[in-house]
Amino acid sequence: MSRARSEITTPDILPEERSTEASLRPSRLDEFVGQAKVKENLQIAIDAARGRGEQLDHALFFGPPGLGKTTLAILLAKEMGVNIRTSSGPVLERPGDLVGLLTGLKRGDILFIDEIHRMRPVLEEFLYPAMEDWRVDVRVSDGPHAETIPMALEPFTLIGATTRYGLLTPPMRARFGMVERLNFYPPEDLAQIVTRSAGILSVDADAGGAEEIAKRSRGTPRVANRLLRRVRDYAAVRADGRVDRETARQALARLDVDEFGLDDMDARLLKTIIEKFEGGPVGLGTLAVAVGEDAGTLEEVYEPYLIQQGFLQRTPRGRIATSTAYRHFGFVAPKGQDSLFGQ
Ligand SMILES: Nc1ncnc2c1ncn2[C@@H]1O[C@H](COP(=O)(O)OP(=O)(O)OP(=O)(O)O)[C@@H](O)[C@H]1O
Ligand SMILES: [Mg+2]
Repeated sequence: MSRARSEITTPDILPEERSTEASLRPSRLDEFVGQAKVKENLQIAIDAARGRGEQLDHALFFGPPGLGKTTLAILLAKEMGVNIRTSSGPVLERPGDLVGLLTGLKRGDILFIDEIHRMRPVLEEFLYPAMEDWRVDVRVSDGPHAETIPMALEPFTLIGATTRYGLLTPPMRARFGMVERLNFYPPEDLAQIVTRSAGILSVDADAGGAEEIAKRSRGTPRVANRLLRRVRDYAAVRADGRVDRETARQALARLDVDEFGLDDMDARLLKTIIEKFEGGPVGLGTLAVAVGEDAGTLEEVYEPYLIQQGFLQRTPRGRIATSTAYRHFGFVAPKGQDSLFGQ
């Protein structure tokens, strides 16, 4: 079975990963590697809520896929010793779907809504009084004289997660007491995550092997864990089962994951800007058509890492490929490529 290259490094979850992903989730906040500032803020919030004997403030986690948003929500519930119920923006259809969830919450419980930016506007409005006054207005009849009755709820904590902070409405954003952004992880953190996962999966991985996997994981724990499993399989079949630097290199080269963790689509995107648009600036929509990918996916999944690694710049006039991108793909950068339209 061979996968499209971009599936190996996509930060989105693959269907067959759901059970392993759950087994690799840290079970305590102090096992959650990296993101020091976020963890510290959460610890303060936990201590403060405990001190007051109240529920946590509503919290919003945002950032690219696979960086630990869902994990943090689950950890918060554990640390607070409360139940967590989960749903997601696209799954919720009618206010009735929310009523069921909300009335099932006990004092202090957490309601986790993934992809909260995709919640329908009518549901968002329905949620506001729940978040602010612990009440919902349930409609009891239809038509022009529709009647609603208020229904009291237990104080609860809403945790929202989104990969698209910009698509969240301002009134929704304003209702979160805590808003935390998750960033890409540096290689040292990812190596620590790989080592921890290797322990759980009983894989014999040394520091060199973990480092090599970490470097190519696009700053993303989910990708690091996935690459570890693929390297483990390679090591079992082609080597002595041990994951060391050399085995990791060979395995990842076979999977076409390059030293920066760039894949097929990254390469296509950058080369298209260089070859078809003279390095840019080129608008997102035009670029999306040229590479045959959805604009939202480009913006949300591919660009953040390329920007962070200095291959791509977003400017008011469009995307440009940096001189690093030119060099990476063996092109000669035009003079002043980085300063032309740079911010
Ligand atoms: N800081 C971390 N330390 C250890 N493991 C982590 C960390 N962050 C994420 N992981 C692991 O990476 C995997 C993906 O994390 P998670 O599902 O929380 O990401 P997410 O941000 O919710 O992604 P999505 O946007 O796709 O929902 C999980 O198996 C999780 O345990
Ligand atoms: Mg998630």
